[in-house]
Amino acid sequence: MNRTAEQIQPNPLREGLSTRAVPQPCSVVIFGATGDLTHRKLIPALYNLAADGELPPAIGVVAVARRDKNDEGFRKELEEAVRKFSRQNVRDEIWKTFAQAISYHRTEFHDLKGYESLAERLTKMDKERGTRGNRLFYLAVAPDQFDDILTNLKKVGLNKAPEGGWARVIVEKPFGTDLESARQLNRIVNNSFSEEQTYRIDHFLGKETAQNILVLRFANAIFEPLWNTRYIDHVQITAAETLGVEGRAGYYDKAGALRDMVQNHLLQLLCLIAMEPPTDLGPNSIRDEKVKVVRSLRRMTGDVVIENVVRGQYSAGAINGKPVAAYREEQGVDPKSAIETYVALRLNIDDWRWADVPVYLRVGKRLPKSGTEISVHFKKAPPVLFNKEAVTLDQNVLVVRIQPDEGISLRMQAKIPGTSLRIEPVKMDFHYGTSFGKPSPEAYERLLLDAMSGDATLFARRDEVEEAWAFIDPIEQAWQEQKDKGLYFYSSGSWGPDEADDLLARDGRAWRRL
Ligand code: BG6
Repeated sequence: MNRTAEQIQPNPLREGLSTRAVPQPCSVVIFGATGDLTHRKLIPALYNLAADGELPPAIGVVAVARRDKNDEGFRKELEEAVRKFSRQNVRDEIWKTFAQAISYHRTEFHDLKGYESLAERLTKMDKERGTRGNRLFYLAVAPDQFDDILTNLKKVGLNKAPEGGWARVIVEKPFGTDLESARQLNRIVNNSFSEEQTYRIDHFLGKETAQNILVLRFANAIFEPLWNTRYIDHVQITAAETLGVEGRAGYYDKAGALRDMVQNHLLQLLCLIAMEPPTDLGPNSIRDEKVKVVRSLRRMTGDVVIENVVRGQYSAGAINGKPVAAYREEQGVDPKSAIETYVALRLNIDDWRWADVPVYLRVGKRLPKSGTEISVHFKKAPPVLFNKEAVTLDQNVLVVRIQPDEGISLRMQAKIPGTSLRIEPVKMDFHYGTSFGKPSPEAYERLLLDAMSGDATLFARRDEVEEAWAFIDPIEQAWQEQKDKGLYFYSSGSWGPDEADDLLARDGRAWRRL
């Protein structure tokens, strides 16, 4: 009897990615450990990995921050956070064991002595916990702290691992506020850690469905022949949030939606959708192809920006029936702020595959629904046979739902049962939850594990980040010149300013309803 391919070689999707390198014993050193990110994301992610048995056999977590705390008190604080933010219920016995691996290290970030004692602590940990000289530094701090931390790590030699080990650094966004500042940050990072040691996090890349885009495109033979300007009419990417600025005004009121979401997350998703097949699955092969997409984005300046990019800001309104304040009334926001909380843009990728295929991106806060999705709209069937009536048939649309309810659906035409020939669109739908029967891990879980394994595929490379800023900078500049002229207000709970609808209507198209 012939054996199927699956019997010979396990299906990597069913068995878990068999290509994944094994995460190695290490100490994880988190700078900015008393901050929001550590409490909401990093420690819950590490706990969930521990609960799923995914962590390396030996691990130590050193939480570095400026406030005066002791191990016990800090662990208690983290326990509360994990109980609140963990993806799965916290099991006492697992938390207890995991918490023993966490210790608190107090230092000012500019104080060299604090790094000398950190180095001693890590050496001791290698002996006591078996972390083998492997160090993963996580910079969960504002970028203006990078220089102090990285310079001091280098001064005490922690940028290099002891013989046989490794040292890596994970850098959080925002990675610069424009091309110049990103270059400067890159110089600072690369002064202490080489590019191979540097992991720039973009948590959208760790989301399950984002990772599935490459599998969808390149593990199936049916899509790639259609994936080009001959068959695709246009692409839309939407990241909608019901949340407002949520106490982050200090950062957000300087950044705005274009820098906060488009420069990184949305352009990363676009790269995955638009890239050419890489020669292999190595991190650099994939990132080489992604960076070509950003490089091929048609640059916009001056009036072209005004024609193709719509910016909006939320005014008061209601979300799920609850009244919410205008952006300008949020705590910490300048009451005259011209910062955008919504962006819609139309862009073009100038390469052979995508010539003449517009891509529409939109992101916004205080929209009626939260959801991130990519939709690929195919050209209509030719106007013969079923498609020649006055009312033409809808397009086929392939939707990749990044969150929530991760999955993929394909809209196509079907005959309505009955004696007459009536046609309606129907949906073929795949849901992760029901097909695989287990919830997807949080993005930070996957990314932390990848960094422990030395797999940089899902992290942004230096040139990707810089190219993305080179595309974004002229848009910001055109807005600067316009001041708040051209900033459109939308009620909280609406789908953004009308001008964003007009952007597509001009091309005879409309935003997909989420
Ligand atoms: C962050 C942005 O990077 O992503 C936030 O700074 C945004 O403004 C968040 O809310 C969205 O991420 P997620 O995973 O909640 O969709």
